[in-house]
Amino acid sequence: MPEAYLNLIRQASSASDIPIIASLNGVTSEGWTEYAKEMAEAGASAVELNVYYIPANLDTTGREVEQRYVDIIKAVKGAVDVPVAVKLNPFFSAMGEMATRFVEAGADGLLLFNRFYQPDFDLDELEVVPDLELSSPSEIRLPLLWIAVLHGRVNASLAATSGVQTPTEIIKYTMAGADAVMTASALLRNGTGHIKTLVDGMSEWMDRRGYESVEQMKGSMSQQNVADPAAFERANYIKVLGSFKSPYIA
Ligand SMILES: Cc1cc2nc3c(=O)[nH]c(=O)nc-3n(C[C@H](O)[C@H](O)[C@H](O)COP(=O)(O)O)c2cc1C
Repeated sequence: MPEAYLNLIRQASSASDIPIIASLNGVTSEGWTEYAKEMAEAGASAVELNVYYIPANLDTTGREVEQRYVDIIKAVKGAVDVPVAVKLNPFFSAMGEMATRFVEAGADGLLLFNRFYQPDFDLDELEVVPDLELSSPSEIRLPLLWIAVLHGRVNASLAATSGVQTPTEIIKYTMAGADAVMTASALLRNGTGHIKTLVDGMSEWMDRRGYESVEQMKGSMSQQNVADPAAFERANYIKVLGSFKSPYIA
């Protein structure tokens, strides 16, 4: 574990009143518990697990991938006293069952979703190149769907991550049922002062609409709470297509 990261946790947790959540990234099943313990000892109020694993080996089954997550959660949960959250990848075939299994394995929080690095091709050099693109608001759709479906149905906090640039995305995620909303790209674009813009913008919107608390908004548009729960499922596909307009389609 780079000592520099542990030092950052130490400094941040002693300098700030807000809980500092350490992020533990890894690929293999080795080493997680030791690092998690060191993070908690350094002052982290919680540990977030980011299992960054692309099963490019064609023999690996879906169940094996899932089990890898479950085993890591169990191991880390058994090693630390602080809450443990897991950053889900968006590619599980049955997200609901996976979320349930992760919570049964000990996850106190689920983050939706990990944004996997996807390489690009340089057509001049014919090389695979790393090209990190910052996110855009259109990326909230998939996490928004699954937070809305999971809200009130799994015994874990739900955190939204992907696409938050303005207060609008935070409000949508909260209404879907997120207990926490995270942002990275927007801060890299606009600087940390943008946090105030986001928080103030959300407060102003709530005042205008007469919301008295975040709690009142939370989950108000989750699948269990909307008038048309099928709007989250394929049953609505025909309606979605019907709503699409193009000057090239009669
Ligand atoms: C430059 C950069 C570095 C990142 N590093 C990490 C990382 O080390 N661990 C991690 O879990 N996520 C990392 N992320 C992903 C973010 O935590 C976040 O999940 C993702 O960017 C989606 O949120 P956003 O749309 O607000 O950017 C990184 C993202 C960016 C843009």
